Amino acid sequence: MQKLTIKGKKKLSGTISISGSKNASLPILASTILFKKVNLKNIPMVKDVFTMIELLRFIGLKVSINSKNNSLKISNSNIKINPIAPYKLVKTMRAGVLVLGPLLSKFKKAKVSLPGGCAIGTRPVDLHLFALKKLGAKIKIKEGYIYATATDGLKGEKIKFPKISVGATENAIIAATHATGETVLLNCAIEPEIKDLIDFLKKSGCDIKCNGRKITINSKKKFKNSKHTIMFDRIEAGTYLIASALIGKKMTLTNLKPKIISNEIKTLKKMGVKIKVQKNKIVISESSNIKNQVLRTSPYPGFPTDLQAQMMVLMTKANGVSKIQENIFENRFMHVPELKRMGAKIEIKNNIAIINGPSKLSGAEVMATDLRASVSLVLAGLVAENRTTINRIYHLDRGYENLEKKFVKCKANIKRI
Ligand code: UD1
Repeated sequence: MQKLTIKGKKKLSGTISISGSKNASLPILASTILFKKVNLKNIPMVKDVFTMIELLRFIGLKVSINSKNNSLKISNSNIKINPIAPYKLVKTMRAGVLVLGPLLSKFKKAKVSLPGGCAIGTRPVDLHLFALKKLGAKIKIKEGYIYATATDGLKGEKIKFPKISVGATENAIIAATHATGETVLLNCAIEPEIKDLIDFLKKSGCDIKCNGRKITINSKKKFKNSKHTIMFDRIEAGTYLIASALIGKKMTLTNLKPKIISNEIKTLKKMGVKIKVQKNKIVISESSNIKNQVLRTSPYPGFPTDLQAQMMVLMTKANGVSKIQENIFENRFMHVPELKRMGAKIEIKNNIAIINGPSKLSGAEVMATDLRASVSLVLAGLVAENRTTINRIYHLDRGYENLEKKFVKCKANIKRI
């Protein structure tokens, strides 16, 4: 099994180009089931994307990958569709459940494995099923699978989500594009990746309007072949911003839209990080006096749960007591025991982490538990004294494209063994 070893305390300097967004790629890829021909650019070549491609191929789509220029060509004409998402693919990536909406709305039936548990919480799919049932689907759960049918096709409906969910909003939008009549979705997630999905669907001929947390979809009979460039990965950008704040001398992040991560930039500036924002890039200068901060994770435009673990590492270096309240997932402090083994002073009280800074971190052998927790250990390793070894880095490969190459280019001492 591969590991990462990091020799810490090496100041970073250089330029990092931000990759395309994993979380925008996955729903857009699932939605390609609905169309004949699609060309996608700026796709990150990460494990979760390959798993989704494997799933699309299992269903019967043709996908050709050009990993040199991060593009995909997908075609879906004259083929026999297999409307099934098997357990072996969905268990490694929950986003597999996103094929349920498009399969059901286009082929009127689907059999999709339940994703099961996950390190960061129970992560149910009840909201996905709630929306699809409202659109007229008949759903049964049997032997770990969701069996869904819509014999007469899906029908537009007014649906108010009882709780904000990114995946359920995406599944419902995609399904509604091929339902008859008008669908009005209320209390939707409005993450930038959902906007990117909607932009792609509109280019493919769908009729979608957004007004705050209300999204209206009207049925269309004709669709177009489309080309789309995936948005930048805002979580990757946030991760490198925090790395730069921790141990950067002079770092530049390119290929991003700073406006989309303005909340994160504002928070870091409040903590004393020296950030200069330009049109499509951000320059971070050495920041010595990091201030403590109180943070709450919440749906966009709030602070993202996917950057919580990385922020916690920065807080171990801040002067004074910082707090993070995790409001999205119930078990997302799995990185804390590992950070404590490296010398961090962190206490957990229910869904609040209290971080006593500044503390000296020292290298240790640690274990990655999920995608964002693993990257927080990389950040801790970069700023710690001596050597850190991170086990189970397959979690990292699910979502970070060329992570160690990008850091090595900025003079970090980091190796995969
Ligand atoms: C997506 C992101 C993930 C991010 C999360 C929150 C992708 C591929 N993944 O995950 O990186 O951390 O948004 O920003 O885009 N919930 C239910 N019932 C459901 C669905 C969700 O109760 O049917 C709950 C979840 O357990 C969680 C909350 O709703 O507590 C938010 O989850 P959701 O927004 O659905 O996250 P994902 O779409 O799975």
